Parts: sequence; C-alpha cells; structure tokens
Amino acid sequence: MIEYFTITKPEEIDVLHGKTAQYRTLNIQYDNETIQYLKDHLHTKNSLYLIAKENNAFAGFCSIDSDWWEKGFLFLREIYVEPRLHRQGIGSEFVQRCIAHAQKHGTKGIVTETAFNNLPMQKLCSKFGFAEWENPEWKEGVTYKLLF
Ligand SMILES: CC(C)(COP(=O)(O)OP(=O)(O)OC[C@H]1O[C@@H](n2cnc3c(N)ncnc32)[C@H](O)[C@@H]1OP(=O)(O)O)[C@@H](O)C(=O)NCCC(=O)NCCS
Repeated sequence: MIEYFTITKPEEIDVLHGKTAQYRTLNIQYDNETIQYLKDHLHTKNSLYLIAKENNAFAGFCSIDSDWWEKGFLFLREIYVEPRLHRQGIGSEFVQRCIAHAQKHGTKGIVTETAFNNLPMQKLCSKFGFAEWENPEWKEGVTYKLLF
C-alpha cells in the first residue's frame, strides 16, 4: 500500500540523493544543487512537499511552491517516482494532491516545466488537463499550465 506524507523538514528532502530515472535518452538524477534548491523553497508561501512510501520505504517525492514569476500561480517544481513503481498511479496521485492544494489556496493555476524528451511527464500533465504554454522566459523544454 502506498501512503502519502507531507514533509516540513529540509533533511527529509535528502532522500533524493542518488535517485535516478531513465526514459529513452532522458536521464534524471538529483545533484546537491537541485536538492538545495528544493530545500530553499520548502517554506515559501503555499508550498506543499509530499513523500510517498510503500511499506515505509521511499516511493516518490513531489513539490509545489509559489516561486513563479506570474502572480497567483504555483510551480510544480519536482516530481519523482521510484522507477520500479512507475505506471502504478503514484505520479497521478501526487498531481491530484497538488491540484487540490492549489485550488484550496485560491490560486489561479499550476505551472510546470519539463524536458522536450520527457514523454511520461508530458503525458501525465495532459492527463490532468495541463496545456502546453508558450513560456517567454524558458525555451529549453516544455512548459505546462493548468488554469482553474
Ligand atoms: C513522470 C513520472 C513522475 C510519472 O509517475 P508515475 O507514477 O509513473 O505516473 P502514473 O502511473 O500516475 O501515470 C500517469 C500517466 O503518466 C503517463 N505516463 C507515465 N509513464 C509513462 C511512460 N513511460 N510512457 C508514456 N506515458 C507515461 C501516462 O499518461 C499515465 O497515465 P496512464 O497510466 O493512465 O496511461 C515518473 O515517470 C517519474 O518519476 N519520472 C522520473 C522523474 C521525472 O521525469 N520527473 C519530472 C521532471 S519535470
């Protein structure tokens, strides 16, 4: 059974150290800089940091925070599911929880950015109604936006 926890302590993010995932030519890995960046955003307004566990073992991580340049939006900064547990709905559950959280806090919507070759993330976004958005600030990948 998968359980979901809200985390509030920076050191709980350290669980991402050494985590990797591959999809075709895409290689995801968490370096110190990325982990520090997540820690730096932990307590921004309306942030939500989630960890999924399976039998008390780490299964996934997701975070959303308000450090986005358009007022009233939350930024889904990170989402990661252990590769052995992909395609079992954990990513969907994370996104659903982020949407519920963003709506509860009266935001305008959620944005997220992903690599051009990150098809799983792109499909996940589409599944929840995110649309591709022409981001004037970032052209190195695809930006998705969900408007409430
Ligand atoms: C993206 C990610 C979080 C999805 O997590 P997940 O738990 O496998 O997602 P789900 O099981 O809820 O799947 C949701 C949808 O995503 C899409 N999807 C997930 N994996 C996919 C794959 N390998 N190929 C195509 N679509 C995929 C599907 O549309 C799927 O819906 P469906 O099962 O009804 O067809 C996961 O692949 C991951 O952790 N990837 C590595 C980290 C990463 O790339 N994060 C995003 C950085 S921006």
